[in-house]
Amino acid sequence: MSTASTTSPGLSDYVRTIEDVLDRRPSNKLIIREVSIATKQLCASDRWLEERHRQGSPDCYTRHLLHRDQQNRFVVLALVWMPGQMTPIHDHSCWGVMGLIQNSLEEVCYDRLDDGKRADFAELEQSRGTDVGQGGVAYLLPPYEEIHRIGNTSSKPTISLHVYGRDLDEVNVFDQVTGKVSPMRIKYYSPECGKAPFVI
Ligand SMILES: [Fe+2]
Repeated sequence: MSTASTTSPGLSDYVRTIEDVLDRRPSNKLIIREVSIATKQLCASDRWLEERHRQGSPDCYTRHLLHRDQQNRFVVLALVWMPGQMTPIHDHSCWGVMGLIQNSLEEVCYDRLDDGKRADFAELEQSRGTDVGQGGVAYLLPPYEEIHRIGNTSSKPTISLHVYGRDLDEVNVFDQVTGKVSPMRIKYYSPECGKAPFVI
């Protein structure tokens, strides 16, 4: 294991479960199903999450790196959201699973209506909006179910767990009004990464 934080028993077991799933090289659909079950189990309690990974910021939600797979097959993050903080509309280009450790998040998903041939333009239509409550799980499954925005629309801080099928260091950000698509570098808040907040 590549980060010190994986010494927490709950997180270590979770990471090992994901490794076992990926060792079998299943389809993305099966990965989502099995990782969702493990995520729900881990998020049933928050005792395994270290204090330093619960740190939020008044400026922007924070992304704490909990584990990076040695074979670069996945990363595990904890995100801390103050009330009102939310992402722009973005994609992932990989599978992903999100679980709610504390409080809730609103997720709004989008369908892409254009043919996807232009790198700098997309026509999006909102497909659904969901409140994911404490202990709940949501997923991303490319190519059709992976564009969304999420945010804390409540009045209390939220902590969510995220696992992605690649090291998510860059995503595309979408302006639904103009159709503009912009690549964006994203950062971790962890001390080993300079405590840089996620900056748009
Ligand atoms: Fe996302």
